[in-house]
Amino acid sequence: MPTHGSRGVAVLAGLGGWLPPRVVDNDELSQRLDTSDEWIRTRTGIRRRHVVTADVSTVDMAVEAGGRALRSAGSQDVDALVLATATPDQVCPASAPQVASRLGLGGIAAFDVNAVCSGFVYALATAAGLIAAGAAQRVLLVGADAFTTLLNPDDRSTVPIFGDGAGAVVLRAGEQDELGAIGPFDLHSDGDLADLLIVPAGGAKQKKSANPDDHYFTMQGPAVFRHATARMAESSRTVMERAGWTVGDVDRFVGHQANIRILQATAKQLGLPADSLVVNIERTGNTSAASIPLAMVDGVKDGTLQAGDRVLVSAFGAGLTWGATALRWPAVTPG
Ligand code: ACO
Repeated sequence: MPTHGSRGVAVLAGLGGWLPPRVVDNDELSQRLDTSDEWIRTRTGIRRRHVVTADVSTVDMAVEAGGRALRSAGSQDVDALVLATATPDQVCPASAPQVASRLGLGGIAAFDVNAVCSGFVYALATAAGLIAAGAAQRVLLVGADAFTTLLNPDDRSTVPIFGDGAGAVVLRAGEQDELGAIGPFDLHSDGDLADLLIVPAGGAKQKKSANPDDHYFTMQGPAVFRHATARMAESSRTVMERAGWTVGDVDRFVGHQANIRILQATAKQLGLPADSLVVNIERTGNTSAASIPLAMVDGVKDGTLQAGDRVLVSAFGAGLTWGATALRWPAVTPG
């Protein structure tokens, strides 16, 4: 990666998203799991989700979303690619270099960031850091996850909640007072609570387990719900304080789309009106690192996100990890 010398603030300059074609609605799930459309809708806000099939991988989705973000930015010219994912195509190597090659981006720096559902916010901070350090002028940031590949297909406590997809943004070096300038940031973790959301086996600690369930994602839902709400609210308050914003200054809240009730409870804790929420979980489910950029794409398309809006962004995920950032929304058309 060349050192460009000129440093700047990361400014959002392009946006794109992609969902795999296979759609699974709540009724289809209810035919094979002990659940119902009514339970899933009222407890989570989800009506349907897109899922990968054998011919679609995380890299495939990232290439689709990344290509759209580059088109939206009007240029293929980027000098780094950051891929936020917890489901790379292979355990080793990282998937970002394959995404860069497939997009024809040459030999640019390319690496993965794994902060699970907080991945997009963590990767935004990472990409903004590359720009602030003068190590890159333009960065393609993709959040992509095939989270359904981690699930036990017979587990009603996880299958209804997750979907697959990819969302991407292009960041360029710019000035603090421009629309689209990203920051300040607030990022945190708590590894003592790793067991709340975990795939116990398959990693370096325990490559193979005799218990097949250890190879699936498990989640302590109600505890996660409480932490997600409290942490996203806490982090959002910190970012507002650092940005010099009061609650009344915030036009829109783009939170990680894990559960409509988590988003509503977070808004309530913050004192934000429910109609400030940008929500698309109804048609996507929880797409992990893709959820925030996919919500941004839908927010622009349905007019919820308008140029000049003051936008709070916050995520929470396995790890535990959580964080927030802020920006004034730029005039951007999804690619
Ligand atoms: N269909 C029908 N009933 C169900 C289902 C289902 N799909 N799943 C659970 N239930 C039952 C439970 O067995 C329980 O029954 P019981 O009362 O007889 O014991 C009842 O419904 C209530 O279960 P709870 O788990 O208490 O339900 P809750 O209202 O907490 O909702 C949910 C569960 C949706 C999982 C919620 O806790 C949640 O959204 N938690 C956060 C999950 C989350 O955000 N995960 C992603 C984090 S991000 C990442 O990094 C991966």
